[in-house]
Amino acid sequence: MADDLLIATGTKTEMYQTIIPQIKALIYGEPDLVANLANISAALKEQFGWFWVGFYLVNKDELVLGPFQGPVACTRIQKGRGVCGSSWQQAKTLIVPDVTKFAGHIACSSLSMSEIVVPIIRNSYVIGVLDVDSEKPAMFDETDKRYLEEIVAEILF
Ligand code: SME
Repeated sequence: MADDLLIATGTKTEMYQTIIPQIKALIYGEPDLVANLANISAALKEQFGWFWVGFYLVNKDELVLGPFQGPVACTRIQKGRGVCGSSWQQAKTLIVPDVTKFAGHIACSSLSMSEIVVPIIRNSYVIGVLDVDSEKPAMFDETDKRYLEEIVAEILF
């Protein structure tokens, strides 16, 4: 099934509602974390065409780059630094409509204009984040928050 993702057109909600069951099917029964994060990144990139989508995983006191789709990115991010490190520290989803207005934003690419970071929380601990970047301003909203949180809730650790 891996070679025939059904890609939706239409509203953002329709796109999420088409891709989420496919993501669940892709990771169903597969215990390998890297494999699942890689396929989630690829499925989201194919559906939405975002500039960058991928994961950072908590490793001791920093986030370390995990599976992603898009240009090369910063490898390590300290807790509380940038949007990713802030989402980790606050254990909540952060929507940044204009990255130039986010104090401490880490510009892995100057092309990124807006961003959403969703923490992956297990047993009250953040164990990683899902990060999505767009070259367009104000790309992300409460719809993305709702569905991306639903996706990260499916990830087995
Ligand atoms: N902009 C992020 C860094 C990660 S890259 O966007 C892939 C941040 O401020 O945390």
